[in-house]
Amino acid sequence: MMDPASFKKQAREELYELLRIPSISTDPAHKGDVQRAADYIEAGLKRAGMTRTEQIRVGEGHPLVYGEWLGAEGRPTLLLYGHYDVQPVEPLEEWVSPPFEPTERDGNVYARGACDDKGQTWILVKAVEWLMQRDGRLPVNIKFLIEGEEECGGESIAAYVEEQGERLAADAAVICDSEMFAPELPSICTGLRGIVYGDLVVEGPRTDLHSGVYGGAAPNPVMAVAEILTALKGRDGKISIPHFYDRVAEPAPEEMEAWARLPFDEEEYRAKEVGSPELTGEAGYSVLERVWARPTLEVHGIRGGFTGDGAKTVIPARAVAKVSLRLVADQRPEEAVEQLKSAIEGVTPMGVRARFEVLHAGAPSLVNPDSAFIRTAASAMEEVFGNKTVYMRSGGSIPIVGLFDRHLGIPSVLMGFGLPDDNLHAPNEKFYLANFDRGIEAVALYLERLG
Ligand code: BES
Ligand code: ZN
Repeated sequence: MMDPASFKKQAREELYELLRIPSISTDPAHKGDVQRAADYIEAGLKRAGMTRTEQIRVGEGHPLVYGEWLGAEGRPTLLLYGHYDVQPVEPLEEWVSPPFEPTERDGNVYARGACDDKGQTWILVKAVEWLMQRDGRLPVNIKFLIEGEEECGGESIAAYVEEQGERLAADAAVICDSEMFAPELPSICTGLRGIVYGDLVVEGPRTDLHSGVYGGAAPNPVMAVAEILTALKGRDGKISIPHFYDRVAEPAPEEMEAWARLPFDEEEYRAKEVGSPELTGEAGYSVLERVWARPTLEVHGIRGGFTGDGAKTVIPARAVAKVSLRLVADQRPEEAVEQLKSAIEGVTPMGVRARFEVLHAGAPSLVNPDSAFIRTAASAMEEVFGNKTVYMRSGGSIPIVGLFDRHLGIPSVLMGFGLPDDNLHAPNEKFYLANFDRGIEAVALYLERLG
């Protein structure tokens, strides 16, 4: 048996191997890399002592990696979830060190996926391996389900959970894919927003046109995209999609009171985390309410016309905006898609055709913290971090939480070890190494206490 220090050192080295694999799931050019990451995860599950592992393929999708150890008769079964795929890395020139060369600086490791979610997935794997090495057995039954499509919509896992749910039967899911409220405050996430993501496609003239010769008479699709977007969301942050807010549920008063007690410094958040001259959004809601409990509409990029260096006078024939809605309980993705489509129809300017093509969607989720699985997690984290565990929500989306609830009927325990400044989905993503170590300790202690 390895001593704890060597075990942690080896855990880091293994994580860095995983981080070197550019498993960008949305980009077909990286399909082989995504597969390599799946193989690496499967080998890790074997080393952790899983008695059966498998790569599950649904259609053409990236594999789900499954592993189980079911030798703790009469004890609870936990479904441990993580994802081994990562977001794209552009803009590359903003990275201080290359995204797939993990580099340590000031107690952090920098790499794409360091936090989201390879680092946190590896916490689960290594916590199990630690217990297995120490005791030769586990205190609870374990089913790992690690997916490779979380960052591009998770179609495979959704189909699998829906169709083969009985194979995943468990008492609770444990997910490390969220954040802590502050560096020393162990946190459990009790709510996530849902998402609808798609392309707003606008077509106008039959071909690109000279903007001097035709400007004034020909419709301009890039302009139309701007008009549609500003008609859908006002300067006050309110979304002008008819009936969009009908199902938005307000948080319970006790939850709002708990949020008000969190150590949140709005000015520091504005200056350090967001780094903009002002914060925006709906009047009458606190910042935490706006990002945790209110829906939004965002545009992620607009393609169309001439965007190179220099000047070109053209009216583009076509433009595409990448647009998403974030949803909160009890909004429904399918309904929001229909609402968005008819709203777009209503505000499309003359002379162009517009349509919305859905890329992926996932429901919002709320977790009731009043369960033994969550309370035990809170106490294990408390012991390792030396501070009381706080309950927070997150504005991000983890669609599988809603699917586990709906198809498996199990709660998800969201033990997050990321930090607010970990730069998820952005250049210079990092993971605080102390949290990697403490995460392994906290998850191992949690499993022990559940057993
Ligand atoms: N780990 C994130 C979600 C997250 C971030 C939860 C911070 C809590 C705190 C996850 O990998 C993610 O980014 N999900 C996507 C959704 C997906 C359907 C593309 C997201 O939220 O954009
Ligand atoms: Zn993630």
